Amino acid sequence: MVEVKLKCIECGKEYDENESRYQCDCGGLLDVKSEGVEVSRKMFDSRKDCESGVWRYKELVHPSAEKIISKGEGGTGIYSNEKLDAYAGTKIIAKHEGENPTGSFKDRGMTVGITEALRKKAKVVACASTGNTSASLAAYAAFAGIKCVVFIPEGKIAYGKLSQALAYGARVFQVQGNFDDAMRLVQQAGKEMNMYVLNSVNPWRLEGQKTIVIELINQLGWRTPDWIAVPLGNAGNTSAFGKALVEMKELGLIERMPRIAAIQATGANPLYKTWKEKSRELLRVKEPETIATAIRIGNPVNWRKALRSINQTNGVIEQVTDQEIMDAKAVVDACGIGCEPASAASVAGTKKLVENGVIKRGERVACVLTGNLLKDPDATINYHSGKIEGVKGRFVNKLQTIEPTIEALEKALAKR
Ligand SMILES: Cc1ncc(COP(=O)(O)O)c(C=O)c1O
Ligand SMILES: [Zn+2]
Repeated sequence: MVEVKLKCIECGKEYDENESRYQCDCGGLLDVKSEGVEVSRKMFDSRKDCESGVWRYKELVHPSAEKIISKGEGGTGIYSNEKLDAYAGTKIIAKHEGENPTGSFKDRGMTVGITEALRKKAKVVACASTGNTSASLAAYAAFAGIKCVVFIPEGKIAYGKLSQALAYGARVFQVQGNFDDAMRLVQQAGKEMNMYVLNSVNPWRLEGQKTIVIELINQLGWRTPDWIAVPLGNAGNTSAFGKALVEMKELGLIERMPRIAAIQATGANPLYKTWKEKSRELLRVKEPETIATAIRIGNPVNWRKALRSINQTNGVIEQVTDQEIMDAKAVVDACGIGCEPASAASVAGTKKLVENGVIKRGERVACVLTGNLLKDPDATINYHSGKIEGVKGRFVNKLQTIEPTIEALEKALAKR
């Protein structure tokens, strides 16, 4: 018999899995805790044709889910490329979460979140978002036929993502403030207006996101990489990855724990500072700023869970500049893999950690590319036309205009 509970990470108090709550009475975050789960490598291998790379691992995600809302999320590719290895200075495996239905890893959390919202008979779902969460929630809510409200920071969201949220029919509110203000508002709306909040503060979202690493390790024939590098914004993935790895070890699915390298942008680095200074309280960033708008967050809700993941996996937190992020992105893009700015933080961070000697040359690093290249075309075009303030285009592919003649073409090609 499998028993599922919600358990506070601070005081250990347990709640029924059907309770509609995201936090303990003491204010602590909740984990989904399943007892009595029995799984094996063979069992998951035999489901390789499962249409969802989330529900393939149902026992590890949501054992009691019945009416599942899925759009075929997960099943994303892993890529190796010599140019990428040369750039980072070690062996890279790029796990491309931009290949999900709405173009980011959020779909893995949202299939579980919306399934749970329906089980709880929620009338309205809501989220605060730097863009991708709103795109994903809007799609899954529309698909399931449930009302959706999203809050985004005014003017600081990539157009690809905003257009998705609008197109999928969500009520979209620009909040005068940053993501952290929007997050505060949605939590209040959740309590006072009975909206079911599907940010990563909701523990069910993280159960879905665990499958990024479960699927990755399954794809690698259950051999773990030495490191898993991931960008850190609201700290949902970092939290989910640690939980997944601990559970996989306990269940005998893996023998060795990979180390997590969580990467922040220097202008939005609260957890980097907190970890570096061994602070017991979060050292918030009041006005976070980075070109990687997806991780432009100064007060990550999951910070305590994320630090737990770092401790459990002997992991590290690193920070990278916008210059490093955009250069890494240009390299990932030019390899034919492609990603949005925040995603490239994983590669930029890996390169930095190799240079610092934290990651040894030759160690295998799985870099999670969290979002699709097409999410933020402005960032890409501005980089290649040298229009990003404070960022030099080191890997620029310049757009050229020519007269429609062979002579003009030959001249232009000779120049390059
Ligand atoms: C593309 C992308 N990368 C990274 C992140 C940050 O993920 P997390 O909040 O799980 O740290 C986000 C969150 O919005 C995102 O959209
Ligand atoms: Zn508690």
